[in-house]
Amino acid sequence: MSLAPKDPLLSELLELARRLARRAGALQRERYETGFRIDTKSAAIDLVTEVDRACEALIVEGIQDARKDDAILAEEGHGGDREGAPVRWIIDPLDGTTNFAHGFPRFCVSIGIECDGKRSVGVVYDPLLDECFEAVLGEGAWLGTRRLHVTKEAKLGRALVATGFAYDVHVSENDNLASFRNVVKTARGIRRDGSAALDLCYVAAGRIDAYWELKLHPWDIAAGFLIVEEAGGRLSDFRGGPPDRSGREVVATNGPVHSELLDQLEPGQG
Ligand code: IPD
Ligand code: CA
Ligand code: CA
Repeated sequence: MSLAPKDPLLSELLELARRLARRAGALQRERYETGFRIDTKSAAIDLVTEVDRACEALIVEGIQDARKDDAILAEEGHGGDREGAPVRWIIDPLDGTTNFAHGFPRFCVSIGIECDGKRSVGVVYDPLLDECFEAVLGEGAWLGTRRLHVTKEAKLGRALVATGFAYDVHVSENDNLASFRNVVKTARGIRRDGSAALDLCYVAAGRIDAYWELKLHPWDIAAGFLIVEEAGGRLSDFRGGPPDRSGREVVATNGPVHSELLDQLEPGQG
């Protein structure tokens, strides 16, 4: 068995997202550890490579060729985010750019799709491991033929937890370090692997029990949120309220460790 949505629109969207994610991933695999141009964006540590831009152009052109009326929000600005379009694509062409730029093997393509404002399709493709995480609303989260489920771990002290730091970490007081310290002192282990989209997929796949981060963007989480939800996980802001699709505050867990993790996150950091 693998993910095969009954709804024809969702099936068409999933197929297209899969195809484009794999094409962009193939380009990343080809260019990984070769020379490429690297520029900076909001800060000296906020990088963008020519491969980020090429992947985004490839994905956006593919969507526009197949579905010209859809809205597209894409990190590097190639899209056209039309108000009122029933189908909206939210794309991070290369999540984990710092890793990619340094030759650290952890990055992916993330494509989320909203239909009438609802998270409906999510595809996250890791080209080096050839792992394609996918979810469709109501149809579960999948990794190939494997249906994904979050862990059942109930104690933060036995949990493996991931987080990340925003690109303003050198200058902002709101830097996640107090929460990081608290969780290091309570969880079994902590990881900072540099790809928010893969961190969310790893919660869904039961490879980690929980993940939190501040100041993300819609493209970091659009696909991963649905993949976590469809794997039975829980999403919220730092106070346990509904998750914010802007990515400003993200807490994603298996459910049982959620409130213990929230207790460790510093109020006012978010
Ligand atoms: C970044 C990664 C990283 C997270 C940053 C994101 P990018 O995305 O997901 O893990 O900590 O906050 O901005 O810039 O590599 O697409
Ligand atoms: Ca990203
Ligand atoms: Ca990116």
